[in-house]
Amino acid sequence: MNGSNRPRVLWASRFGFVLAAAGSAIGLGNIWKFPYITGQHGGGAFVLVYLACIALVGVPILMAELLIGRQGRRDAVGCFAVLERPGSPWMIVGWVGVAASFILLSFYAVVAGWSFDYVVMAASGALRGRSPVEIEGLFGVLVSSPGRVIFWQGVFVVATVAIVLGGVRDGIERCSRILMPALFILLLVLFGRGLMSSGGVPALRFMFQADFSALTPQALLDAVGHAFFTLSLGAGTMITYASYLDPEADLGGLALRIALLDTLMALLAALTIFSVAFTAGIEPGSGPGLVFQTLPILLLELPFGSVLALLFFLLLAFAALSSSISMLEVTVAYLVDEKSWPRWRAAGLVGIAAFLVGVPSALSFNLWQDFKPFFGRTFFEACDLLVSSYLLPLGGLLVAIYIGWVWPRRHSLAELGAGRQQQRWVHSWQLLLRYVAPAAVIIVLLNQMGVFR
Ligand code: TRP
Repeated sequence: MNGSNRPRVLWASRFGFVLAAAGSAIGLGNIWKFPYITGQHGGGAFVLVYLACIALVGVPILMAELLIGRQGRRDAVGCFAVLERPGSPWMIVGWVGVAASFILLSFYAVVAGWSFDYVVMAASGALRGRSPVEIEGLFGVLVSSPGRVIFWQGVFVVATVAIVLGGVRDGIERCSRILMPALFILLLVLFGRGLMSSGGVPALRFMFQADFSALTPQALLDAVGHAFFTLSLGAGTMITYASYLDPEADLGGLALRIALLDTLMALLAALTIFSVAFTAGIEPGSGPGLVFQTLPILLLELPFGSVLALLFFLLLAFAALSSSISMLEVTVAYLVDEKSWPRWRAAGLVGIAAFLVGVPSALSFNLWQDFKPFFGRTFFEACDLLVSSYLLPLGGLLVAIYIGWVWPRRHSLAELGAGRQQQRWVHSWQLLLRYVAPAAVIIVLLNQMGVFR
């Protein structure tokens, strides 16, 4: 029997879907990566370019993924069997998605595990009364302990599996209804605190005063790549989530809401982190260590610093969890829909597999840090490169080509509910999807392959 014969569980409400999809989008990408790449690329001008990439490349592809999922009503691979025919070559898009989201989950859990460890450190008072040098050193102590890192990676995977086991409505949606508002409130508290400190105004200036002379070609490429990552595109995630949508939902409106929430959270997180940094007179360009090393030092210098640090790492952990469940759901949905596996078996076994594949990534910071067989990269770096720089852009490119060029236009019009004034919108969307998005992604991919060097 094929799983598609069973009645499909749908989201309890569209708002629940928006929370879950925004939960997928809002993650380490927003709170850890966006602030540090914005810092490295000099602020304002990069922010503008990033916003343009979200609007011109991200939202059109997001809409295309929602369209595929809602129309196919199956997992990311099965959708193309429905929209085309079983065995269609387009099913490769789904396979790219399953591979990308699985590998992503394996190493995402490692970094997310660090945030769990920091939650415990902050809650137990281990951060209090330490000098800045000591706090900075805690990160090194953590990542160089294989046992500790693997333990928290495992805890994180177990938490992810536990939520996905509950199913779409009672697991993912219910959890998102708690995690997302909590996330928002935590971020607002920290943002308010940051803005009131003396670094608030310099942070606003850094983020919103564009100095285009600081912009490099690499910044443009990073902005496109990050737009993919932050909206969870190219990995079958949004296709899978949209397959649980009711047939009447307005996809354009939903896509806009998801993108707006994601962008809002990224901007708030960056402003918060920069205002704390500027208060302490630190330049925001300090790289990946910004969140785990610089930020705790700075937070602890503020009144109630250890509470603020606890709130911050809770925020990071929640954001990571609402993203990782969406990664796991892609493969679980595939096994449930195509192989008729019971959900518990799919979630359990995929979780164990993702954990095991993630162990070498956890070891990349300690025992295996000098083991670099992948063109001078550690296992962790190789996984990140494969997924973020190749698989996600490839998946997104194929989605854009499929909906832009292959899927009949009248179907898009019907699906997007365009009879009335919306025709114009759908037309602009199609132009972006047919020309702008593929061109941008192809340039990024060619650059990755070193064609421009
Ligand atoms: N978007 C999330 C973040 O910003 C990560 C994420 C979840 C993701 N699912 C994904 C990234 C699928 C790419 C593909 O952290």
